[in-house]
Amino acid sequence: MEIFATGDGSHSLYHATLNETYHSRHGALTESRHVFMQNGLAHFLSINRKEPVRIFEVGFGTGLNALLACQLAQDTLRKMEYTGLEPFPLPPEQALQLNYCELTGRPGDVGVFHQMHGAGWATAHALSPFFTFLKLRTTLQDWTPVGAYDVIFFDAFAPSRQPELWDVDQLRKISRQLAPGGVLVTYCAKGQFKRDLRTLGLNVESIPGPPGKREMVRATAAS
Ligand SMILES: C[S@@+](CC[C@H](N)C(=O)[O-])C[C@H]1O[C@@H](n2cnc3c(N)ncnc32)[C@H](O)[C@@H]1O
Repeated sequence: MEIFATGDGSHSLYHATLNETYHSRHGALTESRHVFMQNGLAHFLSINRKEPVRIFEVGFGTGLNALLACQLAQDTLRKMEYTGLEPFPLPPEQALQLNYCELTGRPGDVGVFHQMHGAGWATAHALSPFFTFLKLRTTLQDWTPVGAYDVIFFDAFAPSRQPELWDVDQLRKISRQLAPGGVLVTYCAKGQFKRDLRTLGLNVESIPGPPGKREMVRATAAS
């Protein structure tokens, strides 16, 4: 796995075997802020008073989405519980070369980012008074769901690279874990994906995407 700089200066990784990147080449930080924060977590917070907000991520990866979610918890003073799946974790020494904390420039981020990557598996860690962090070393296929989630970051590799994660059985498994009014967000806006989510009973919105992407998807469970 190779670190490279995306269009906004933030790092991403290139996965040579899949010939795929972890984020948009136009900007990793910009994509994460737009898709997963602004149109996912922040959107949910703006219309729900619920606490703690339970977040689930398919693919913890670099930890960028988890870091930004932790920031949002601090900024909004809303309690959050994050769970991320990651079957193929990055070596912590490589993760710590990523420049996200430099770019966000917030005191405390470096410590939080280190803790996320160094944290033991399957144990919840309170990284701040507002943010509890749990990572599970498993695939989505092998994951045993527990409880319901308010916000799901569906950040798997693209359907063309990992179609098995986007098939209707996996989508059913995830969508059943959405709490009433919960939202799933992803950068992907393929027609079949949207049709599958609708078949599963979710309200599907196509939203303008981040730079380089016409659309993204937000799917909401009935309240
Ligand atoms: C597109 S990357 C995004 C990662 C992360 N959200 C980030 O911002 O860095 C996809 C992630 O899914 C993980 N992954 C691969 N196969 C998976 C599977 N079967 N179940 C869950 N996650 C998987 C990869 O290891 C990788 O970390």
